[in-house]
Amino acid sequence: MNVLLIGSGAREHALAWKLRQSSRLDDLFVAPGNPGTAELGTNLALPNSDSDVIVDACRSHRIDLVVVGNEDPLAAGLVDRLAVEGIAAFGPAQASAQIESSKVFAKELMARHGIPSASFATFDDANAARAYIESQSEPLVVKADGLARGKGVIVADSTAAALEAIDAIMVRREFGAAGDRVIIEPRLSGREVSAHAFTDGKTVAHMPFSCDHKPVFDGDRGPNTGGMGVYSPPDWLDEETAKAIRSDVTEAAVAAMMAAERPYRGVIYPGLMLTNAGPMVLEFNCRFGDPEAQVLLHLLETDLLEVLWAVANNSLHEVELRWSQDACVGVVLASGGYPGGYETGFAIEGLADLDADVVAFHAGTSRRDDGTLVTAGGRVLTIVAAGPTLAQAREKAYRNVERVRFQGMHYRRDIGVAQPASV
Ligand code: AMP
Ligand code: GLY
Repeated sequence: MNVLLIGSGAREHALAWKLRQSSRLDDLFVAPGNPGTAELGTNLALPNSDSDVIVDACRSHRIDLVVVGNEDPLAAGLVDRLAVEGIAAFGPAQASAQIESSKVFAKELMARHGIPSASFATFDDANAARAYIESQSEPLVVKADGLARGKGVIVADSTAAALEAIDAIMVRREFGAAGDRVIIEPRLSGREVSAHAFTDGKTVAHMPFSCDHKPVFDGDRGPNTGGMGVYSPPDWLDEETAKAIRSDVTEAAVAAMMAAERPYRGVIYPGLMLTNAGPMVLEFNCRFGDPEAQVLLHLLETDLLEVLWAVANNSLHEVELRWSQDACVGVVLASGGYPGGYETGFAIEGLADLDADVVAFHAGTSRRDDGTLVTAGGRVLTIVAAGPTLAQAREKAYRNVERVRFQGMHYRRDIGVAQPASV
């Protein structure tokens, strides 16, 4: 089978790495890909927002399956266009991807189907939103409705901060049309966990739970990033809570999408907070998390291409998913200054010295004409290691991280250490 994978991050490198292990894979193309995916297939410099160009590439490379890694092309309707062209694709159609691309849609769906989430109010008018904020006494969270690269959620610690969030989203329009509407909800506290599942709209195949670490510094201090590291599974999550999330959140959401005549095919990924009142959904995502994918795909033992093909062809019930019993830790190596400004172009050394079973997934890297691998982004690499226990996986990940060097490199030293619940 020939596969075209869309995306360029460490998540897509992990997808490419796992696809490469499939006995069913012939040629792998990645658009646009990165130096990591170039070792596993052929990178194609296509603009992934242009579906005409992608359809042409599918024809010329005789692609059997398109795998979409990131949310933007899903929200833009790439999978719908491929369906019209008769090309199989892994990922939800545009109307189903709304579970991520419109927080108002997701909240209303949850409210209708009793999926646990914070209460909320929706506004398309800044003055009405301000009046509501002034009328509330509890701490609030303000969220832009649309896709905002993870930056459209403002956890406000005062009324002034919530009002400022309205100015940023609705008046200064920092997230463009994504800020046409906002959601305002009470601030929850508890530990966060990511749930992922494959689904073809009927069958739901759950993945292990995982946890990412968003703040840039140890102890969850400093500004949020795209994710500084991840571990799986969380050893503190009890089976009763895990079961409740699987059935009352993930399976309930897949059934709700079917009932809404938006059959959901792809990865469904609710981000949750475990509150005193039980698990509550913070958001739904319509694709793998990054960096969650880097550990989940490392733990997957089943042929990934078989799974993705079954999802795209409504036959997931025929596939049995097997997962390693190991724990897995991924540590993100970032450029000095990230998530603020940073310089790029620094040589990356030491990757050849990693243990044979430790993987470095590329994100912000590029290759110079002379072959030197250099930094090219904020999050540069995710170093992933597994072990029989979380402690052993951590120890192995960090032993390998210490062999990698580039100027300004920084990383968290506490990935895989559970953080106390936020208050
Ligand atoms: P989201 O994109 O909606 O998951 O939000 C991003 C991050 O904002 C989450 O991972 C949480 O850390 C935080 N967050 C979102 N909603 C809430 C909430 N209601 N209470 C507290 N924190 C929240
Ligand atoms: N790990 C957070 C995300 O991918 O949205």
